Amino acid sequence: MVSKLLLGLLAGLGAAVAQCPDYVTHSTQIHEPLSQGKYQLSYQRPDPACRTFTLAEVKEAILDMEHAVKDPDLARLFENTYPNTLDTTVSWKGVASGSDEELTFITTGDIVAMWLRDSANQMRSYKTLLKANSSTDSLASLFRGAINLQSRYIFASPFCNAFQAPAESGLPPEHNNAADTDEVTPDYDPSFVFECKYELDSLSAFLQLSYDYYDKTGDSNFFGKYNWVNTVETILNVTKTLLIGTYADDGHVNELSYTFQRTTNSASETLLNVGAGSPIKGGTGLVRSAFRPSDDSTIYQLFIPANMMFSSYLGRCAEIMENQNSGLAKQMSDFSTSVRNGIEQQGKVRHEAFGEIYAYEVDGYGSRNMMDDANVPSLLSAPILDYLDANDTTYQNTRKFVLSAENPYYMRGTVINGVGSPHTHPGKAWPMSIIVALLSSDDDDEIMKGLRMLVSSTAQLGLIHESIDTFNASNWSRQWFSWANGLFGEMLLDLKDRKPYLLELSYQD
Ligand SMILES: *[C@@H]1O[C@H](CO)[C@@H](O)[C@H](O)[C@H]1NC(C)=O
Ligand SMILES: *[C@@H]1O[C@H](CO)[C@@H](O)[C@H](O)[C@H]1NC(C)=O
Ligand SMILES: *[C@@H]1O[C@H](CO)[C@@H](O)[C@H](O)[C@H]1NC(C)=O
Ligand SMILES: *[C@@H]1O[C@H](CO)[C@@H](O)[C@H](O)[C@H]1NC(C)=O
Ligand SMILES: *[C@@H]1O[C@H](CO)[C@@H](O)[C@H](O)[C@H]1NC(C)=O
Repeated sequence: MVSKLLLGLLAGLGAAVAQCPDYVTHSTQIHEPLSQGKYQLSYQRPDPACRTFTLAEVKEAILDMEHAVKDPDLARLFENTYPNTLDTTVSWKGVASGSDEELTFITTGDIVAMWLRDSANQMRSYKTLLKANSSTDSLASLFRGAINLQSRYIFASPFCNAFQAPAESGLPPEHNNAADTDEVTPDYDPSFVFECKYELDSLSAFLQLSYDYYDKTGDSNFFGKYNWVNTVETILNVTKTLLIGTYADDGHVNELSYTFQRTTNSASETLLNVGAGSPIKGGTGLVRSAFRPSDDSTIYQLFIPANMMFSSYLGRCAEIMENQNSGLAKQMSDFSTSVRNGIEQQGKVRHEAFGEIYAYEVDGYGSRNMMDDANVPSLLSAPILDYLDANDTTYQNTRKFVLSAENPYYMRGTVINGVGSPHTHPGKAWPMSIIVALLSSDDDDEIMKGLRMLVSSTAQLGLIHESIDTFNASNWSRQWFSWANGLFGEMLLDLKDRKPYLLELSYQD
């Protein structure tokens, strides 16, 4: 997420929307009516006429939550955040030219481009409401359109992470200033690609999105209709080139399938070794990743959380592939298993204080990066990636490490305590990490504390920010971050299911 780029709301939404406020600005202002609690949170939904998509089931979910939640500020936070993706980011929905193939272009919020990771997660926040439905006005159609568009993107440019609106939309491509100096192999077309950072979790996001749709609808025919099978084969082909070590046995440098360099004053925005990144040992079973889900470069390229996500959803999608191509399905489940074995053999470390825990990154030579970042996939999120159960012992040890001052990216203060990221300033915690902690927690005290921090730290704006100064809630980044908004809603829906009594409490102190 390139938080510095505030590129303005979509042009070309049509005359009816012309008077709609620019949400980049709207989301930095306080709007009445304020919620009736101590925090007096702003109302942040755009006018009904300005919302980019509406669904009856989301409207119902908001009404249900109003009844379930007693704290007026917490209820307002849900009301603002849960519909945020539908309200503000479904920038275009239609069909591919000359076809009945649905397409959904979902922007991240303040940046008018579709990130594979963000859009898969933005859709996931509505997964619990998803049912089979062939109507083009349905939630199922939004999912199908997102899968089809991601498939188009990945098939053409499998190393890239963020993309332009499809030609059919008539929306002009956005210029990405940050990418002006990028030198990337393989080359890409900037009218199609917004940014080309290779991140294993972006490819995994497509598999997650596919699985989420299949899991709730059972619609296996859909996956045979367009290019899904070829896209999955592309993912397999590409990730296999990323298993290879930097050096061949005889000392020659192996040919690299991807390199990236940018002219920048930020160490995490480019790759060392002339665009290759840190050397890795081959034969570990782990797939390399040049960048992290924060879009920052990895220090060691064998990035464990993305390998967890990849193994998890590659394995789950093998079941979908079974009906299409059993040979590919077998390759998928075998690959999923070998990545899992790589994680279990190479990705665990004995920590002096916490016992056996997962490392964030390794290189196969014995170096490990002991940290966690707020962005998902993270170590903290392993259970919500469906990689393991939350009561797994190594996970529980890892969790204690991640949520302690021993994690170099755990940020503490008087306003908020949570995991941050080298993507934002030192001293800034990300609400997203607290949300993930609550999604993976069974501890009522931890959950209540987390809700109190979340509801009290929005600077009255009533939206989930990217990061917050741990001592000053007014000092935050990214006013319009739809993924984080959706994730908050998803977490509250999950609590409504698992621990409804916690929603009857007050979070005012
Ligand atoms: C399918 O979705 C449409 C649009 O949201 C809705 O009106 C319709 O009731 C749904 N059909 C079923 C069977 O749920
Ligand atoms: C994947 O690789 C195989 C073997 O090289 C090749 O036959 C196939 O066409 C590739 N598939 C795609 C979709 O690129
Ligand atoms: C693990 O957690 C689940 C709930 O997530 C619980 O039902 C199960 O009993 C737990 N298993 C163990 C071994 O504690
Ligand atoms: C905002 O927070 C960052 C890091 O937390 C800090 O470096 C910066 O000085 C703060 N700005 C203000 C105006 O307080
Ligand atoms: C808190 O952050 C805001 C916004 O950056 C800044 O204007 C204000 O001075 C900061 N307050 C303190 C006490 O540092």
